[in-house]
Amino acid sequence: MLQWKESRMSHAGVSCYDCHVVPKSHPSAIQCPGIKGTNIYISPLVSPKTCAKCHPTEVEQFTKSGHARLASRPVVDVPKLQKLQYYFEGGEFAGVPKKDPRTTAPRETGCIVCHGGKIILGPDKKPISGWPGGIGTRYPDGGVGSCVACHYRHTFSLEQARKPETCGRCHLGPDHPDIEIYLESKHGQLYLAHGEKWRWNSAPETWEPGDYTAPTCATCHMSGIGALKTTHNVNERLKWDMVHKKSVIRSGERGDGKKGRQLMVQVCANCHSTLHTKQFMSSLDNAVALYNAYWDGAVKMFNELKAKGLLKKDKWSDGYQELMYYLWHHVGRRARHGAAMNGPDYAHWHGFFQIFQVYKDLQAIYNYRIKHNKIEELSTVMSSAPY
Ligand code: HEC
Ligand code: HEC
Ligand code: HEC
Ligand code: HEC
Ligand code: HEC
Ligand code: HEC
Ligand code: HEC
Repeated sequence: MLQWKESRMSHAGVSCYDCHVVPKSHPSAIQCPGIKGTNIYISPLVSPKTCAKCHPTEVEQFTKSGHARLASRPVVDVPKLQKLQYYFEGGEFAGVPKKDPRTTAPRETGCIVCHGGKIILGPDKKPISGWPGGIGTRYPDGGVGSCVACHYRHTFSLEQARKPETCGRCHLGPDHPDIEIYLESKHGQLYLAHGEKWRWNSAPETWEPGDYTAPTCATCHMSGIGALKTTHNVNERLKWDMVHKKSVIRSGERGDGKKGRQLMVQVCANCHSTLHTKQFMSSLDNAVALYNAYWDGAVKMFNELKAKGLLKKDKWSDGYQELMYYLWHHVGRRARHGAAMNGPDYAHWHGFFQIFQVYKDLQAIYNYRIKHNKIEELSTVMSSAPY
């Protein structure tokens, strides 16, 4: 309640009713004891459909971004990732019975908290799974995404959404260490040194250099700066797809890479010379191309092993395939993200240095299998370390 009073929206006269009161026909409409007998129905679940009543532009942009349906897709729609979640991580392979509630634990405590899943309602219309959920949550009313992933209730403070830690809640760790990369960049160092003196609460479209001296995640990926308008589509300013196995220029549902680069360069131009930014972007493009060369080499060996029947069916017991996973998902992402956001330790020591080592191990396994025409008995890969 106190938080709500502090939010600018409460000043604008937005009340509990605007967000929580729903028609009786709403899929998650319930009545708490206080309103039993009246014809008022509420929903504790608030999807972007509700916010869209007053913020249609933000919701439209957000819906097109990787933060909406694309974010919950791996968790909800991709069969091989179902197997990863329930069978491997959920312990079915180790004897925990299928459908046992324990098998859902990794998914509910991990994937869904960041990515979001599908909310399942019980017979009393109250959620039994998937709520509260991560950024791509699919609501029973058809709304997709969670605005409270970044705008914590009930202050909906711009200051909090603009701070890098808000993004770092999900963008961290061995496979996408963006907050770590940011904090080791000069931008992050300036944030640590002077951030508490920056003006964080400027109204939308007026938060400009001067309010801050270095960009946060939001500045580069979302906020209005100079001639650029704020966007809730985080794909808009990106050139490369560095999430997946091979980096390609973004197109279709992942964005428009050519335009994305132009927009990102425009962000930098507010504080840096053209020369500075050009140099930076050309090193980034070289880093992406080098990573792709390693990936192509790994795929070539993979295809040969496959043709000769020298791959195990279960990739998690097969050293070659496990290493291939670490190549793109851990060391390869770290190198690419490090290069993109000025984090030299991630670009190098946690990135390219480990990429070449993983690659040499891939070559060694490949050579062994080709020479002996058989798969080594035990996986030589120590699953989580050192990658
Ligand atoms: C601007 C919209 C908005 C307003 C105004 C608003 N809420 Fe919420 N509320 C939300 C959102 C969004 C959530 C998170 C729902 C979700 O994750 O699906 C939420 C969640 C909740 C929850 C359930 C989650 C929990 O922590 O238990 C309660 C209870 C709640 N609000 C009460 C209130 C009350 C009381 C008021 C008025 C003082 C209020 N809300 C005003 C948007 C709003
Ligand atoms: C009934 C209309 C209404 C609904 C529904 C609504 N908002 Fe707002 N919201 C407003 C108004 C009006 C403002 C502008 C307040 C101002 O500029 O002083 C605002 C401002 C904001 C701000 C900026 C706060 C700031 O400090 O400037 C955020 C963030 C926000 N809303 C998020 C949400 C989210 C998320 C939802 C859905 C959970 C939501 N709003 C639902 C009317 C609404
Ligand atoms: C609740 C977790 C969460 C938070 C908070 C979060 N993200 Fe994300 N973000 C994700 C997930 C999950 C994806 C992957 C989406 C997919 O599957 O394509 C993602 C993807 C992205 C992408 C790449 C888009 C794409 O489709 O490839 C960018 C850029 C990004 N986020 C920036 C940000 C920024 C900037 C912030 C903070 C303002 C932020 N994120 C906050 C979870 C989060
Ligand atoms: C700590 C938060 C977090 C957890 C937990 C998490 N992810 Fe992610 N995931 C992300 C972020 C952030 C990205 C985006 C990385 C990028 O943009 O490069 C991502 C990217 C992905 C992608 C690639 C994007 C796409 O749409 O194809 C897949 C697949 C994926 N995650 C699946 C999962 C699965 C399955 C789980 C659970 C077994 C899981 N993730 C757990 C945060 C998380
Ligand atoms: C990935 C984090 C993230 C998510 C998710 C997110 N926002 Fe925002 N939002 C921000 C940031 C950062 C700003 C501040 C932009 C700036 O610097 O002015 C913002 C600003 C806003 C504003 C103020 C007006 C504006 O456009 O600047 C509104 C309104 C708003 N968001 C609504 C929403 C709604 C509705 C949703 C859900 C559909 C949502 N946001 C989801 C990060 C997010
Ligand atoms: C100085 C501007 C800047 C800052 C600050 C910044 N980024 Fe980035 N980010 C970039 C650039 C540039 C790229 C690469 C764009 C391209 O594809 O060419 C990128 C790429 C990404 C990607 C990669 C998407 C993919 O394809 O895998 C994610 C995710 C991301 N940033 C999240 C964050 C988060 C989270 C933060 C804060 C902790 C942050 N960024 C801070 C500029 C920035
Ligand atoms: C709000 C202003 C601002 C924006 C926007 C900004 N930077 Fe910076 N950047 C700085 C400041 C300030 C420094 C520290 C310079 C120093 O050491 O005096 C810096 C440092 C750097 C450095 C470290 C090398 C050096 O000059 O010392 C790189 C690389 C860099 N920025 C790249 C970028 C890129 C790429 C973008 C756009 C994607 C960007 N910056 C956007 C303010 C900004």
